[in-house]
Amino acid sequence: MTTMIRRPRRLLLLLLFPLLALAPPPSAASRHDYGDALRKSILFFEGQRSGRLPPNQRVRWRHDSALHDGSGEGVDLTGGYYDAGDNVKFGFPMAFTATLLAWSVIDFGKSMGPELGNAISAVRWATDYLMKATSVPGVVYVQVGDAFRDHGCWERPEDMDTPRTTYKVDASRPGSDVAGETAAALAAASIVFRGRDPSYSARLLDRAISVFEFADRHRGAYSSSLRSAVCPFYCDFDGYQDELLWGAAWLHKASRRREYREYIKNNEHILGADDSINEFGWDNKHAGINVLISKVLMGNAQYLESFKLNADNFICSLLPGIFHPQIQYSPGGLLFKVGGSNMQHVTSLSFLLLAYSNYLSHSNQHVPCGSHSASPSLLRRIAKSQVDYILGDNPMRMSYMVGYGSKYPMRIHHRASSIPSVGAHPAHIGCKAGSKYYLSPNPNPNLLVGAVVGGPNLSDAFPDSRPVFQQSEPTTYINAPLVGLFAFFWAHPGNV
Ligand SMILES: *[C@@H]1O[C@H](CO)[C@@H](O)[C@H](O)[C@H]1NC(C)=O
Repeated sequence: MTTMIRRPRRLLLLLLFPLLALAPPPSAASRHDYGDALRKSILFFEGQRSGRLPPNQRVRWRHDSALHDGSGEGVDLTGGYYDAGDNVKFGFPMAFTATLLAWSVIDFGKSMGPELGNAISAVRWATDYLMKATSVPGVVYVQVGDAFRDHGCWERPEDMDTPRTTYKVDASRPGSDVAGETAAALAAASIVFRGRDPSYSARLLDRAISVFEFADRHRGAYSSSLRSAVCPFYCDFDGYQDELLWGAAWLHKASRRREYREYIKNNEHILGADDSINEFGWDNKHAGINVLISKVLMGNAQYLESFKLNADNFICSLLPGIFHPQIQYSPGGLLFKVGGSNMQHVTSLSFLLLAYSNYLSHSNQHVPCGSHSASPSLLRRIAKSQVDYILGDNPMRMSYMVGYGSKYPMRIHHRASSIPSVGAHPAHIGCKAGSKYYLSPNPNPNLLVGAVVGGPNLSDAFPDSRPVFQQSEPTTYINAPLVGLFAFFWAHPGNV
């Protein structure tokens, strides 16, 4: 890790030039239709809906599904989102998705124009479910659906006949990771609804407070408590400590209560705030914690200065042209991290670059990176280069968002998209009967407009093949940060 040395500002400006040369050139005056991409990125969430679909549902090829979720336990667990191309409701990534959708609205809602209402509906579809999943005090329902049985079938959600087993964490089987993330989502959403639906906002915040208290009092990882159900799917490899800090950070932002600031300060080292600082995803919240807490501090306190230093270090690790063992760029300029579904890293890290650049701009700061310095505008340009890559500025000359541009993925790894819809084929298609659609070389019959897939490999190649799920599967947490990114670049076409 680079040691950070603060330098006089005049020197910073001089040192800026080498880094600017490393950053991608600005693309010719906004060739991309960020407004269209924004609309589609939100529409995607309607295709992922579980439960009873409302009359204003725009993705018409989807129908009601999983209407009895939770009934075996005597609770209503209908609704929420399928995480990706399957039919399981995984609470851990769903909560992370909700947190990031809410963060997108909090930071960039004013740039969403007529799409703001749809973005808020997307948040609410998740939080209505998370409220159900936390309605029993001391319990969080964290998953509906037997993931092994589900993954053994290629079935439409509307036909699904695999066991809808419910899994929960409680005092005897703790899950501070999933409960901490759920608290973060509810707290973040309470900010979204504060001026729009004050009573809903108050209920979200109250619930966030009690869910966080449960998460903190009964510490443990849900992947220990529920290992056979949640691993290897959304197994918490990274520990639950980061979600406790993350939950406290969002509760601090939402409630402004001193106790959460104290919690962060007192637990900073115990909970490893400075571990793996350049990760941000459904499992690992570290970079997000540091960026979010830095915002609170920017311009004033020495109070939690270490978070700002971590955030700066994280930003430096992403700069193209600077060697970092955990960050790479493809020859075509796409950010890469090891592990499947690379696009989740691209979108979540780009979101942090953009959010941080705005916080820096407001407090008139640069990021010191060893002998260099990074300006807010450099951070925005890197984020924009990633978004532009997704929309078509790449060696394949294709968009990685279904339905955007003229060339995009046609065979996404997604059950509902790849099997004829209930409207086109009303008869039931059973577990194994769906295999012929999975194996078909034909394009998917239903366009899941707005879905962004796992993306190309480190050589910028993309096979557009359903079985290659690491590259062809969309997920809700790939899209959630894009909602904020597209909104910003739509509203600021030249100002990058
Ligand atoms: C990417 O995929 C292409 C085509 O499938 C393959 O030739 C290439 O070796 C892959 N690159 C990496 C780094 O895996």
